[in-house]
Amino acid sequence: MTTATELYARALGLIPGGVNSPVRAMKAMGLGAPIFAARGDGAYLEDVDGHRYLDWVLSWGPLIFGHADPETVEAVVAAARRGTTFGTATEAEVELAAEIVDAVPSVEMVRLVSSGTEAAMTALRLARAATGREPFVRFRGGYHGHADPFLSEAGSGVRTLGIEAGGEGRVVDFNDLDGVERAIDGAACVFVEPVAGNMGVVPPAPGFLEGLRRLCDESGALLVFDEVITGFRVARGGAQERYRVLPDLTVLGKIVGGGLPLAAFGGRADLMERLAPAGDVYQAGTLSGNPLATAAGLSVVRRLTSDVYDELERKGERLDRGLTPFGRFERVGAMATLFVDDYPALFRHLLERGIYLAPSQNEAMFLSTAHGDEEIDRTIQAVGDFFA
Ligand SMILES: Cc1ncc(COP(=O)(O)O)c(C=O)c1O
Repeated sequence: MTTATELYARALGLIPGGVNSPVRAMKAMGLGAPIFAARGDGAYLEDVDGHRYLDWVLSWGPLIFGHADPETVEAVVAAARRGTTFGTATEAEVELAAEIVDAVPSVEMVRLVSSGTEAAMTALRLARAATGREPFVRFRGGYHGHADPFLSEAGSGVRTLGIEAGGEGRVVDFNDLDGVERAIDGAACVFVEPVAGNMGVVPPAPGFLEGLRRLCDESGALLVFDEVITGFRVARGGAQERYRVLPDLTVLGKIVGGGLPLAAFGGRADLMERLAPAGDVYQAGTLSGNPLATAAGLSVVRRLTSDVYDELERKGERLDRGLTPFGRFERVGAMATLFVDDYPALFRHLLERGIYLAPSQNEAMFLSTAHGDEEIDRTIQAVGDFFA
């Protein structure tokens, strides 16, 4: 019996489904137990049984410099020595806010929270308060965290597990501008992942984001980009920089927290100043702007120069050339999905060869600076072997 098998058996009696986030159980991939991580290093993850995996999941996106990036670790350790939480304002929060405002084109003010779920939930509350409207538009297969309004017909684990959850909002197909036009009347906002990442990676069709901007302007709805995945990933300024379409509100997570629990939402100053204590829309958090998380976020975001994105783009093109022959390969910057007929079989084939792909076709594979040509070529070779 492996240590993972033992731990899983124990976890099943203590934690619902044995995991703290559903897709980790890897049930849809037909695995007997989750991967129990012991440590990570660059592009590699090692489990409690000593297996070493080339990791294309990277904790679902935050680790743009790979696991245990030394500078991030140093920044966190140094911050921890000064105190792990204060529950009062800190200099690092102001500095991280300034980095975000500098990087993300539409963001004039930002609030830091602890998870993407919280950030999305509050962005919706703010959009509703600012417009005085309740309905909103979102997209089938999108994912904005697990707050109630967003769950019906959501992507990510909700779709992978086939869960029929309740939710709110008028749900239309991604890239269907006519559908949005029919649904937008009286809506507070259109909530969208500008590059879909939770139905596998699906780029916006040409003109789609521009069309959303126009429809929002015509109807008085706010445009909310959920850039939890795309922020600092498809460009330093996220999808809004890459596609040159500016939303009213932006939701951030993952990379902005450098691998610690931190997320954010931001936008036009007049909207953001509706938040308490400046305004009347309430939002709060014991650990918001946590010093370890802001230290990690600052360490990462400050190193994200155009050279980093050039490097990731070059690596992405290498992946394109290698994987396109095997299925529909969709990639935007450092996020990608290979769509194949029997994804679980491909997943298991790769895992047996020490390559850890996202355990669902509804997720993305993430490139980091730690993934070199060797890792890319080994992955292409192993995918090729699967189809041989
Ligand atoms: C686009 C998007 N929004 C929101 C979230 C929720 O973020 P969190 O898991 O930090 O709550 C996710 C999580 O994967 C996401 O991909």
